[in-house]
Amino acid sequence: MGVTGSIAVYKAADLASKLTQAGAHVDVILTAAAERFISPLTFQSLTGRKAYTDKELWGGESHVLHVGLGHAADLLLVAPCTANTLTKFAQGQANDLLSITALAAQCPILVAPAMDVGMYEHPATQENVRVLKERGLHFAGPAEGRMASGLLGFGRMIEPAEIIGHARRVLGMRGKLAGKKIVITAGGSREAIDPVRFITNRSSGKQGYALAEAAIDMGADVRLISAPTALTPPIGANLLLAESAEEMCEAVLAESAGADALIMAAAIADFRPEKVAEKKIKKRDGVPQIRLEAAPDVLLTVASQMARASRPRVVVGFAAESRDLVANAAEKLKSKNLDLIVANDISAKDAGFDVENNRVTLLMPEGEQEKLSLRSKFEVAEIILSRISSLLKKMEK
Ligand code: CTP
Repeated sequence: MGVTGSIAVYKAADLASKLTQAGAHVDVILTAAAERFISPLTFQSLTGRKAYTDKELWGGESHVLHVGLGHAADLLLVAPCTANTLTKFAQGQANDLLSITALAAQCPILVAPAMDVGMYEHPATQENVRVLKERGLHFAGPAEGRMASGLLGFGRMIEPAEIIGHARRVLGMRGKLAGKKIVITAGGSREAIDPVRFITNRSSGKQGYALAEAAIDMGADVRLISAPTALTPPIGANLLLAESAEEMCEAVLAESAGADALIMAAAIADFRPEKVAEKKIKKRDGVPQIRLEAAPDVLLTVASQMARASRPRVVVGFAAESRDLVANAAEKLKSKNLDLIVANDISAKDAGFDVENNRVTLLMPEGEQEKLSLRSKFEVAEIILSRISSLLKKMEK
C-alpha cells in the first residue's frame, strides 16, 4: 500500500487496518510528503508489519527493496494518491521508494486519487488519468463531495470500504470465473396492493448479495437483479432494481440471454393481487377483500420462453422449504429444469431468512447430494460458485 501526501491519509490508516483485519498482509510505503502528515509507526502498529520510507531506499537493509516489494505483492494500492504521484506514474518517474516500486511492480496497480477540485479537473491531471487507464492502471474514485478547502466537486478520496471493494474486484480479475457473465437475483419481491401497500416476504437479500460478492472475487461479470433491500451492492456489480415478479421476470429474460449462469436467489412472489388499486385504499370504505392470482414463475418462464441456444448454460435455483427439504427440492430441480438447487431449511432459527448464516443442501440432477454444515452466507456463496465453475468447465471440454 502506497500512502502519499494528502490530508486523506487519516482514512488510509483505517484502510490499512481494515485490510489487515480482512487477512491481507499490508506493507506500507510512505512518501516524504505523507510522512509530514502521519508517522510510519501508525501503519506499523495497525498492520503488524514494517512501514517503509525513503530512508529505507537508501539504507542497507535490503539489496533491492523496491524490486522486492513490487514483485512480492499481489496488488499495489496507492491510497491516497496525490496529483503529484499520478504525474510520476504517468511519466514513469522513479525518484522515491514508492515511484520506483510502482515502476518495478509486476502486480496490478490500483490508485485512489485525492486532491482538490481544480487539481483533479486540470487538463494535465485528466491527461495523466487517461494515459494511466490506457496502460491498465485501475482507479478507485475519486468521489464528488466537500474538500478540505471547502470547495465542492470531484477529487475526494472514496471511503476505505469502497476502496476495499475495488481491491477485491481487481484481485479477482484473474479468478476462475474471469470472462464469465453471471446473472444473480436477490431479495424479496414486492407486489403492490395500492400506491402505498405491498405484499412481500422475509428475504433480506443477504445470500444473493454474498453470491454477487463472491462471483466478483472470482472475476465474473456480475448482473445483480435486486428487489429493494437495505444492503450496499458489492463494488463491480451491475445493479438492476426490480420490484415485482413481473419486473424480475423481464429483467432476468433480458439479462440472461447469452449468460454463462443464472442464480435465482431471490424470493419471488408466487401470488399477487389480481388488481392494483390506483388510489390508496381508504379505511372508510371498509376492510378490503384482496383477491390474489398467480405471479409469473421466473425459472419456468426462462425454461419455456428462452430459446435453448440463448439460455444461460448453468441455471441454479434455491428452494425455501419448511418440511421434506430434500424431496421438495428434488422435485423443483426437475420441474424447473435446473442444473443445481440449493435447498434451504427455513424453519431453523440460526439459518435462512435475514440472518448471517445458512445451512443448505446442494442437489444435482444425477441425484448427487451435498449437505453443508452451518456457515456464513459468503462461504455458502463461494461453494455454489465453485460448483458452477466446475459445471462450466465440464461443458467446455
Ligand atoms: N422462483 C421463481 N419465480 C417465482 C417463484 C420462485 O423463479 N415466482 C424461483 C426462486 O427464485 C427459487 C425457486 O424458484 O430459485 C424456488 O422457489 P421456492 O419459493 O422455493 O419455490 P416455489 O417454486 O415458489 O414453490 P413453493 O412456494 O410451492 O415451495
